[in-house]
Amino acid sequence: MSTSKKVVVIGGTGLVGSKAVAILRNAGHEAVAASSRNGINAFTGEGLQAALAGADAVIDVSNLMSFDEPVIRNFFATSSRNLTEAEKSAGVRHHVVLSIVGTSGLSGNPYVGGKQAQEEAVKASGQDYTIVRATQFYEFLDALADAYADGAGLKVPDIAFQPIAAADVAAALVKVALENPRNGIVDLAGPDRGAFAQVMRSYLAAKGDGRAVGVDASLGYFGAPVTATSLVPTGDFIQGRITLADWLRQQNNETKVEKS
Ligand SMILES: NC(=O)c1ccc[n+]([C@@H]2O[C@H](COP(=O)([O-])OP(=O)(O)OC[C@H]3O[C@@H](n4cnc5c(N)ncnc54)[C@H](OP(=O)(O)O)[C@@H]3O)[C@@H](O)[C@H]2O)c1
Repeated sequence: MSTSKKVVVIGGTGLVGSKAVAILRNAGHEAVAASSRNGINAFTGEGLQAALAGADAVIDVSNLMSFDEPVIRNFFATSSRNLTEAEKSAGVRHHVVLSIVGTSGLSGNPYVGGKQAQEEAVKASGQDYTIVRATQFYEFLDALADAYADGAGLKVPDIAFQPIAAADVAAALVKVALENPRNGIVDLAGPDRGAFAQVMRSYLAAKGDGRAVGVDASLGYFGAPVTATSLVPTGDFIQGRITLADWLRQQNNETKVEKS
């Protein structure tokens, strides 16, 4: 009997999704790289029925970058309802969705409001699911540096930080998708925890960016008030393997290969 599975990756052309598709295919599974540009649209429902036929699991890593809370809530809630309804009709056994560590406690951040709506829609769907909440990706550190720019340097909140490589997120999502649904939440974080300021200093220094990083305890996370552990797991979690130092070395090597 074949152990090969069919997994539909919604957002399969994006940063995490494309890595999940590659991992699945390399392991001999059938992976559908679903995205609105290739005719499979979670928000409108276009193409879902055909894409999900015969699928064992769906991994939802679709994204809309918006800080308009009603827009982002509607996007994630509607997409999740469409996906889980289509999955139940097609007999798909597991819906896996990627969320963010600390989502329940980050109200006031409009984007996280969308992730709250996404989680709520999945929990209410009647479909078997696992919500995987990841910490911030290393690939997101540039955007964070821009967001916390303050004059010639950076000011960041006084909180713990434990970012993770998108490659580790993709690997964990695939592993979870091939297991039984947990009908619950699992946290996922990188191998090293440090102060946000210290992680940012290491990141900028490795990139030759000389900006100073200071701390301002009054700062939140994109509009959400924070405590010391708002962005890190506080209980059990799946741990990624790739350290920030390893990831930076890998990025550096890839840049050198591209230039040669
Ligand atoms: N950045 C972080 O630090 C972080 C941390 C934790 C969790 N996350 C979560 O990680 C997830 C994935 O992020 P990412 O950076 O990999 O995203 P990304 O690179 O922006 O990719 C988004 C993907 O979603 C697809 N998509 C958008 N609208 C769609 C629709 N209506 N139907 C089907 N596909 C659609 C896009 O393709 P088309 O444009 O062709 O549709 C694309 O393939 C997000 O849900 C985010 O909340 C991010």
